[in-house]
Formats: sequence, structure tokens, C-alpha cells
Amino acid sequence: MDQDIGKRLAAEEAAKYLERGMVLGLGTGSTAAHFVDIAGARVAEGWPLKGVPTSETTRRQAALLGIEIIEPDETTVIDLAVDGADEADPGLNLIKGGGAALLREKIIAHAARKFIVIADKSKRVTALGAFPLPVEISPYAWALTVAAMRRVLDEHGFSQAKLAIRASDGVSVKTDGGNLIVDCALERIENPGVLEKALNDIPGVLENGLFCGMADMIIYGSDDGVSTAAPRT
Ligand code: A5P
Repeated sequence: MDQDIGKRLAAEEAAKYLERGMVLGLGTGSTAAHFVDIAGARVAEGWPLKGVPTSETTRRQAALLGIEIIEPDETTVIDLAVDGADEADPGLNLIKGGGAALLREKIIAHAARKFIVIADKSKRVTALGAFPLPVEISPYAWALTVAAMRRVLDEHGFSQAKLAIRASDGVSVKTDGGNLIVDCALERIENPGVLEKALNDIPGVLENGLFCGMADMIIYGSDDGVSTAAPRT
């Protein structure tokens, strides 16, 4: 399977939900970049679209394409947010944050009237957890926060969990907001909604990459075409 074709097809399907005049939440990552690209093409055709970017990378891409950038504190309305995911389960729960933008992504997805997730089919899993769960923490007293995370994970049956501060070339990765990412290798998360709340109860944890009950739709793409998953009503 050519994953990039799947990503592109999913983004094209999501673009069917675009309407003139919308304020868009623009996600981060290689799949979301396809959607930004398509939104930029609409703008080039004369569509009035504005975008709230979830990362500096996406901001640069959108600005280059001529999409009018709205700062997140300049709007209280986001009509449609479109973003990728690292994993998605049958209940439409997600792991996000592989690109270290999860706090901003969650704020924008939560605020959006509609949140569409786009992904190549390899992101569909029966249970979340094979992808290490990213958790964004304050750099202040980070070791205390990581210790508290270990206690919470232990209480939730993850006593064997391996936690690592994300680093690149030996240097801790900083998010666009200047925070740290702790990647938690959990293998299989049976109750993602419970764990999402428990981790966020720790002072020092700013947000975690479990996005439970947030997606209005997931569009999976593959070289065979697209399929859509929506919450059961
Ligand atoms: C960014 O922090 C992430 O949440 C991305 O949306 C996620 O990692 C998916 O990225 P790709 O589309 O590049 O796989």
C-alpha cells in the first residue's frame, strides 16, 4: 500500500466538507498537510477561507499557500478542523501527538464545530497503544511530573510502561509552546477514556495524546479508495 496515496485520498474526501467562508482548524503532520494543500488550492480559485494553524510548520505552509491565518485568540469560532492521527480505534478514539503538536491540536479540535480525522488505513487498529502515547508536560519540575505519571500508570495496570522524554540528537524536543513530550510505551490501552482523564489530573501534565469521543468522522484512505467511520448514534 502506498500510504501517501491513502493520505491524499482521505484529504480529498475531507475537502468535500469545505464551504466558502469557513474558518478552518488546520492540523499538523504529513496527512493534514495534504488537506492544507487542497484548502490552499481553493483559496487560489478565489474561495474565502481562513485557517487557525495547530503548529508553526502548518502556519508556514498555510501562509505560503495564501490562506489567511487567524491567531487562535482572535476567534471563538472554528467551523471545521481536519487533522491526522497516529492510531484510531473502532470507537473513534485516537492517539495523536507523533508530531509534538497535541496540545494545540486538541484545543482546536475541541473548539471546532466539526472535527474530521484523516488517515491512511495503516492507522486503524483494534485497540490503541502500540504507538507510544505522547504526553505534553511543563518543563518546570519535569522529573516530578514524570514520577507522578509513573504512579498513575501503575494504578491503571501499566506497571511495565516505559517512559521516555522525546529527544532528537540527544537534545530534548520542545513543542511550539516550549513544553516537553513524554512518550509512554503502553502496548495496549483497554480504557482510553479513563486513562485520558487520569493523566490530565496530574499537575504538570498539560495534555495527553488520547483524543476520546472527539472525532465526528474518520476518513481512511488507501490506494483502493476511502472509507468513512462515524460514531454510532
Ligand atoms: C501531530 O502532533 C500529530 O498528532 C499528527 O497528526 C499525527 O502524528 C499524524 O501524523 P501523520 O499524518 O504525519 O502520520
